[in-house]
Order: sequence, then C-alpha cells, then structure tokens
Amino acid sequence: MFQLRTLEDLSATELDTILYEAGRFAAGEMANETINATVANLFFEPSTRTKVSFEKAEHELGLHIISFDAATSSVTKGETLYDTVKTLEAIGCNAAVIRHPEQKYYEQLEGVTIPVINAGDGAGDHPTQSLLDLLTIQQEFLFFQNLTVVICGDIRHSRVARTNAGILRKLGARVLFSGPAEWMDDTITEGSFVSMDEAVRTADVMMMLRIQTERHDGTADWTKEEYHARYGLTENREAAMKPGAIIMHPAPVNRDVEIADRLVECSRSRIFKQMANGVAVRKAVLTHALKLKEEAK
Ligand code: CP
Repeated sequence: MFQLRTLEDLSATELDTILYEAGRFAAGEMANETINATVANLFFEPSTRTKVSFEKAEHELGLHIISFDAATSSVTKGETLYDTVKTLEAIGCNAAVIRHPEQKYYEQLEGVTIPVINAGDGAGDHPTQSLLDLLTIQQEFLFFQNLTVVICGDIRHSRVARTNAGILRKLGARVLFSGPAEWMDDTITEGSFVSMDEAVRTADVMMMLRIQTERHDGTADWTKEEYHARYGLTENREAAMKPGAIIMHPAPVNRDVEIADRLVECSRSRIFKQMANGVAVRKAVLTHALKLKEEAK
C-alpha cells in the first residue's frame, strides 16, 4: 500500500512520475481525473499553504473531503492518533493527510490500512513540500545535477531542510548550508557550511528558512534586525547573486528577518510559484495514492 511518510517511501520511478504529472497539472496539460474516494485531512499543527492546497487539490479531483478538527474531536478526550485514524478508516475514509507536531508520528499507525500522506511531522519531514520545491527547481533549471542549492537559516528545527537536503543530494545537486552555527545539524550539515556572503556568490538556489520559534526552548539570541544583518538575505546580498539564480522559501515568511521585505516578490523570487505548485504536486500525490489503492483491491 502506498504511504508517503518520507521521500524514502518513493521509488525513483514514483518520484519521476509524480514530478512529471505535477508538472503537467501545473502547466494545465493534464485533465483532472474525478476520483470517487474520501480523504480526511487531519492537521494537529497550524497550516495555511499545506492544508489549503491539499483541500484545493482534493476539490479539483472531485474527492469527498473530511476536514477533521482536532480541537472539537475525541482527541480532547484522550483518543489516540491510531484510534482516530482507525475510526476514520472504519467510517469510510480512503486516505488520510496528517500534520502532527510529533516527529515520526506515523510509526504509531502501523495497523492502518489506508494511505497516510505526511503533511509534516514535527522537525522530521515534509515530503510534499520537498516535492513542490523539486518541481519549482526543475521548472527553472530542468536538471538537479551540479546545481548549487544553499539552505539558509534555522536548519536544526526545519523539516523542510532535512527532507530537501537528502533528496537534492540524491539527485546530484551540491547542497550547502548557511546560518547561525548553533542552528546547524551535524547529521546533515557537516562539512557543507558557508557564510551568507559566500552563499549568495555561489548559489543557483537560495533556499531561505523561517526561524521556527515554536520549536525553540530559549529566548532569541538576536534582535530581528541583528539576525537580518548577519544571516538574512538582504537587498545588498541579493545584488551579489549570480544571474539566473533564484530565491525560494517554504513560507510563512518573516519579512525583514530571514529575507528583506522587497525580495519576497522580486524577479528572482519563486516563493508564490512554490505555493501554486503545491496544488499540482498534491494532486499528483493523491492521484497516485488512490489509484494504487484501487488497483490493489
Ligand atoms: N510551507 C508550509 O508548510 O506552510 P504551512 O505551514 O502554512 O502549511
């Protein structure tokens, strides 16, 4: 059964197929197939882009959508995640999209028989964000081989950094990191650190990250202004970027902290294109998951 917990769940062929189909959805070259199935969206952490783009994708595919509200559900009476998903499965849901603050929450769901699509697990992974990031880079450069992608900022607390670093390296890109030394994560960043000034000179893609204050346990070491000057993508740094280099950010964006306000919508920015690609990628993932489930019957 298809599961998308991390990108490791996808074979190379599945990754290619999903990116190809997402690209066709994004270009308006692929008609929406109506799928007669029910999908439950369970968001135990706040979300705008991921939640809304899954809902939009589900609407466009003609799916029946169950928007599960954790705050008014029996989770508040102590029902476990496993029992919650088993209940939705028993009631007739054919797939579950789940965002949860606990890293690897999906390990609790071994006995679930419907596809689970991870919409973000704590500081773990965010596979559909990575897929839309890959699509955005592919639309720009066609290939990943030998591209230099610099991931900048709060690496340690970012599920986007972890998932993207792994898949981009696998696809042949050179992945570097920049930001405060205490926010690096040796498991992915060791030997790949560059200063912000070096980053902008070498990057084909500057991938900026939000400071994940909700995952920090202390007070901030910098004011917003200090952080921006030391580690942010300032207008002066943008001016030193290579011709053709692009700026990405998974958003939400802290304007004038990790990126200058004016750069969010500048000609190099692909931030809103990433969001639009999110709908196409999620349509491709849902189509793949639900078709495989139908074929397995
Ligand atoms: N990029 C992203 O996951 O945004 P949301 O938290 O708004 O879904």
